[in-house]
Amino acid sequence: MKEYNITVSSGQSNIFCGEGAFASRAPLIPRERVFIVTDSNVSALYRALIDSTFGGAPAYVLPAGEGSKNRTQLFKILSAMFDAGATRSTTLVALGGGVVGDIAGLAASLYMRGVPVVQIPTTLLAQVDSSVGGKTAIDFRGIKNIVGAFCQPREVIVDPLFLKTLPAREVRCGLGEIIKYGALNGDILRKLSANMKNLTSQDFLSDITFDCIAHKAAVVCADERDLGGSRKTLNLGHTTGHAFELYYGRKSHGEYVLIGMYYELFIACKLGVCSPEYAAALVKLIKSVIRVPSYADASTAARGAKHDKKNSDTANISLILPQSPGVCRELTLGADEYCGYIRECSRAVAAKEWL
Ligand SMILES: NC(=O)c1ccc[n+]([C@@H]2O[C@H](COP(=O)([O-])OP(=O)(O)OC[C@H]3O[C@@H](n4cnc5c(N)ncnc54)[C@H](O)[C@@H]3O)[C@@H](O)[C@H]2O)c1
Repeated sequence: MKEYNITVSSGQSNIFCGEGAFASRAPLIPRERVFIVTDSNVSALYRALIDSTFGGAPAYVLPAGEGSKNRTQLFKILSAMFDAGATRSTTLVALGGGVVGDIAGLAASLYMRGVPVVQIPTTLLAQVDSSVGGKTAIDFRGIKNIVGAFCQPREVIVDPLFLKTLPAREVRCGLGEIIKYGALNGDILRKLSANMKNLTSQDFLSDITFDCIAHKAAVVCADERDLGGSRKTLNLGHTTGHAFELYYGRKSHGEYVLIGMYYELFIACKLGVCSPEYAAALVKLIKSVIRVPSYADASTAARGAKHDKKNSDTANISLILPQSPGVCRELTLGADEYCGYIRECSRAVAAKEWL
């Protein structure tokens, strides 16, 4: 088991990662002061483990899926905590994927102006990314993560034991964020490229999870509140990915991150931000995980990017573009220009004219 620490002005977050992390850390949370938030799939799969670890603790079970990241479910969690007699010394345990982690973290930041939260991520995506760093949110008015708060988890327990039940598609979603880290970190990119045929093996995923968490922890320590610039880089692929996710909604978050990265790589090449060779190396990784679609109405879908939190106004779109291994660059395009590139990329995909 490895341990990482995030020390920021709002406190310290300890991350325990590796085989045995759950068995050694979860029983240390005083079970008489625990409130659990999980989802219907995780609750069904891990009922026995939840009962033996937290036996008798009150819980709220969300319907599984992104559709639950809304204000109705947020207030249901808060009501359930109130009904269960939760106090300021209650620890909220968020046991699930990124949806559970995001909404439960927000509930923890609101209840009595804040109770401690322990994140126990059960999807690959949540283990390598969303459970670490304290960003919490719900979707609102059709915009992803637009209402939220920073709430550093007191502890994050990352155990590969949960990945044994994860469907292959959810593993692909996690690889979406992992490949994003490849574009942000040359060492991660080298490992990914050297293990292209092996990306879903348990050993590889366990090892790369350490690297992604170490990278994210360092970024969060440097820029907890997403103010100085370095945390923005973690949004690579997300501007277009979020816009497509909200407009089409048929795939999952991690899949749209990969599709968004592909479309934004096209823009980076067009603008000369990155070389065709570097774009080809990243596209090869993306295509080893997912088929990139073209969309007849891609530029309409891309309009949703005007609500992205990185933008300073809705007429301009801020993008994080890959430049070279481990280096990316923020660039702002007019909304029309950005949507034009997205249309052009979609046509190039349909005509098989780009990578
Ligand atoms: N806060 C952040 O920094 C951050 C970063 C990246 C993504 N996110 C958010 O994370 C969310 C996506 O997370 P996700 O991909 O984990 O989605 P998710 O939470 O919806 O989980 C995906 C599916 O896997 C199921 N599942 C969870 N654990 C399982 C297990 N061990 N075995 C079998 N099935 C299991 C869930 O029930 C769900 O059906 C999005 O809402 C995204 O916005 C947040």
